[in-house]
Amino acid sequence: MPADRTAEITSRTPQETEQIGSFLGSMLAKGDIIALSGELGTGKTTLVRGMARGIGLEEGEVASPSFTLVNEYAGGGPLARGPLRLFHIDLYRLEDEKELLGIDYEEYIKGEGVVVIEWADRIPRAVPRDALWITLRYLGAECRQIVLQAQGDRYKAMIEELQRKVYTEFSL
Ligand SMILES: Nc1ncnc2c1ncn2[C@@H]1O[C@H](COP(=O)(O)OP(=O)(O)OP(=O)(O)O)[C@@H](O)[C@H]1O
Ligand SMILES: [Mg+2]
Repeated sequence: MPADRTAEITSRTPQETEQIGSFLGSMLAKGDIIALSGELGTGKTTLVRGMARGIGLEEGEVASPSFTLVNEYAGGGPLARGPLRLFHIDLYRLEDEKELLGIDYEEYIKGEGVVVIEWADRIPRAVPRDALWITLRYLGAECRQIVLQAQGDRYKAMIEELQRKVYTEFSL
């Protein structure tokens, strides 16, 4: 399905990737869906850590895929924006779509909080129609390409806002 909007942002350091994640995090609201893909070591966890920071959650909690299918990053100090929750679902080890039933996947997707679906490209059908797809690509030792694809007006606007922020804050 063609995206409603795409953008590519080049990150030159892990800190930049985290900052981009944080910009995104500050725009997120309950019910938002981020479908995240990228080869090993491209910075997926770094990006999600930034998102947690942008939401106002404890970024230290954010880790790479564990053996659980879903992690919730709770906490949230004085900066936390209300009761916004962040669920990190990891499809890497999923062998069968039916396993999603076992984690009440539908309940998360229905909007309990922000949902990041890592390795979403493994089971694209599991991702709702409206979502922000993010793919990380390795360009060089510290260089990554962040490809954003919006499905739906909300994420289209989010990409535009993110681009504005990156242009002004990184003075590219
Ligand atoms: N521009 C960059 N953005 C993000 N990470 C970078 C960048 N440049 C170098 N790195 C390094 O790449 C690694 C990315 O690790 P991270 O755990 O975020 O990747 P990942 O995609 O989650 O990997 P995995 O699939 O193994 O969980 C880190 O060691 C980080 O320091
Ligand atoms: Mg990771």
